[in-house]
Amino acid sequence: MNISRTYLLTGSLYLLVGIILGMYMGGKQDFTLAPVHAHINLLGFTLMTLFGVAYRVMPQLAGNTLAKVHFWLHQIGAFVMLIGLFLLMTGSMAPESAEKILPVSEILVFFGMLAWAINVFRSA
Ligand code: HEM
Repeated sequence: MNISRTYLLTGSLYLLVGIILGMYMGGKQDFTLAPVHAHINLLGFTLMTLFGVAYRVMPQLAGNTLAKVHFWLHQIGAFVMLIGLFLLMTGSMAPESAEKILPVSEILVFFGMLAWAINVFRSA
């Protein structure tokens, strides 16, 4: 798998979803989901695009195990967090369930970032 390319592709999909949600909020004048919109755009589009470009510019970061760990933890963690946040804020998931699911997704994202940081310190 080409990590850089996959980050850029998934990032652009998150951007489309984030923008559609932003347009929907603006149209409805209901900003309840603003934090979901912000996190789709920032965790999904901005960070993934940044990672995609960074792995392209510094290919020495892309081929090792840390890059793979980072990729999967970020992809899975961000996806679970964004869906969880959406369900919580639309009232489709009970806060008690969100309290169990969201921290797990946050830990996944955090350890992904840790792998990224170690990789950068070692090889950038
Ligand atoms: C056509 C594109 C976009 C539209 C229509 C849009 C629309 C909106 C709307 C309606 C809000 C709520 C404003 C309010 O609470 O008064 C908002 C908030 C926000 N948007 Fe966007 N947005 C767009 C793109 C983006 C992008 C690309 C990013 C980041 C990369 C972004 C990041 C944010 C952030 C951080 C907030 C504040 C969230 C909060 O207060 O909880 N937006 N946007």
